[in-house]
Amino acid sequence: MSFLSNIFRRKEKELPADFVNPIKVDFHSHYLPGIDDGCKEMGESIEILKILESKGYTKAITTPHVMSDFYKNSPEIINAKLEMVREEMQKAGLTIKLEAAAEYYVDDSFEKKVLAHNILSFGKEKYVLIETGFMDMPMNLLSAIFELKTSGYIPVLAHPERYQYFIPGTDDYEQIVGSGVLFQMNLLSIIGYYNPQAKKVAEHLIQNQMVNFIGGDTHNMKHLWLVHEKAVKHPLYGKVVELPLLNNSL
Ligand SMILES: [Fe+2]
Repeated sequence: MSFLSNIFRRKEKELPADFVNPIKVDFHSHYLPGIDDGCKEMGESIEILKILESKGYTKAITTPHVMSDFYKNSPEIINAKLEMVREEMQKAGLTIKLEAAAEYYVDDSFEKKVLAHNILSFGKEKYVLIETGFMDMPMNLLSAIFELKTSGYIPVLAHPERYQYFIPGTDDYEQIVGSGVLFQMNLLSIIGYYNPQAKKVAEHLIQNQMVNFIGGDTHNMKHLWLVHEKAVKHPLYGKVVELPLLNNSL
């Protein structure tokens, strides 16, 4: 391949410079410091929120992990940390709004939390973000989705494209799609950050108009940079934001 065609190929991979990002609500992230594998310190959280504000975002809904073995975050712990970050944001003069929900790992204790309504939802519609392990579909995923729906919540599956069991055409895939769960696609999947399969399934979700929310799943500065300097400039980003995404309704 010649030098010139290389340049053209590189240009083809970016949206035009005058592309305006229509998404104003940043959703699915780990910005609350020190309570999961996301931001480690308050300074990092504030720096990230400052950058989001400068990029035109008016709200961020952050979603710390809740996992009974590793991240024992309760609504009280999350809300207390949220208040601390809000105070620092005020001192820094930030105007972007920050809200918190959670990213619930579907484990044995999850359904109990749902039945007790001891969970954090987001949006007026009471969406609840859930995730699973990457290898196998958990036995209780479908019952957890059912439990959420019958308890008055709308389940949202985080980054379905990243699960090795979520392959179009398989039984697992069909059952999940048929369960009525909404899908939140990770933006880093469209640039191939995780693996080729995640990128391929992300493309499939976009082509079949199956993406309801997009999210950076930002844990740190590196993710933030990749989302805004790479993913948001990728042609697939131009395609996904043409879908009726729910981000801006939050
Ligand atoms: Fe996450």
